[in-house]
Amino acid sequence: MVEIRSVGVMGAGQMGSGIAHVCALAGLDVGLYDVARDRLEACLNVVSANLSRQVASKKITEEQRREALSRIKLLTDLEGFSDTDLVIEAVTENETIKRKALSQLCPELKPEAMIGTNTSSVSITRLAASTDRPERFIGIHFMNPVPVMQLVELVRGIATEDETFEAARNFVSKLGKTVAVSEDFPAFMVNRILLPMINEAIYTLYEGVGTVDSIDTAMRLGANHPMGPLQLADFIGLDTCLSIMQVLHDGLADSKYRPCPLLVKYVEAGWLGRKTQRGFYDYR
Ligand code: CAA
Repeated sequence: MVEIRSVGVMGAGQMGSGIAHVCALAGLDVGLYDVARDRLEACLNVVSANLSRQVASKKITEEQRREALSRIKLLTDLEGFSDTDLVIEAVTENETIKRKALSQLCPELKPEAMIGTNTSSVSITRLAASTDRPERFIGIHFMNPVPVMQLVELVRGIATEDETFEAARNFVSKLGKTVAVSEDFPAFMVNRILLPMINEAIYTLYEGVGTVDSIDTAMRLGANHPMGPLQLADFIGLDTCLSIMQVLHDGLADSKYRPCPLLVKYVEAGWLGRKTQRGFYDYR
């Protein structure tokens, strides 16, 4: 059985920071890669602040926080992954960008290294085919915020070997998370169900059925969701929501997955939710 001792995270965004956080806290050595040094530093600050929240609520000790932070190495060069057991790709949710990142990554890895992708919607088989190791490639899909959410979806591509799957399953258990196994269909399970709900909430707003506040209140108090769907859309990122709806629409060829024109318009305006300070809510 392959044991994962060191993990690389490619992409220092929202998901990259959460993945680095939970891996370091589980005692793994973490290399966090991004092209931009300032993004890496900002990401490490996010990890540090989130670890502090966990110290404050007594989920971890100050000592664990310090040790976790010391295990994260910032990398602006992919050569830093030359001895890494598993690299998880967590770049922007766009197939072209992901393929490019994977093709740059492969030549830097040792032959036996595994690659995981944190894609939330794109075909694992197709992404695997753009690497030199489809048998050691797997979907490892974390939920946001990663340090809090219990679930990880594991998705095999057509060529993923059993050994890769078992190593990934052990890795997820080591992080203290629960696996749900999904077949390789567009957006897998969580997003196949969650994103059409969010898209429908945006249609509900678009058609004037309710206001932002009333739609979110309806779902928080009427369906016991921790966040309203529009607040959640802002939290995920409206660009990511749109990408996932497009993958569902293209991949399943059913008009029920048509992205709401209002979602398209917001993304075109650069209103991407919390990360740009403006989405369905104004965070400025
Ligand atoms: N890191 C560490 N801890 C965090 C954290 C983070 N990033 N975010 C929140 N927390 C902790 C807080 O410190 C707090 O801890 P204590 O209870 O121990 O004090 C706890 O989580 C709850 O946080 P808050 O009190 O700040 O706020 P809340 O009660 O409103 O919970 C939430 C926040 C956990 C995000 C909750 O609103 C929630 O579960 N929302 C829904 C999230 C969701 O649906 N995620 C899935 C998105 S879909 C996805 O990820 C898939 C995809 O591909 C798009």
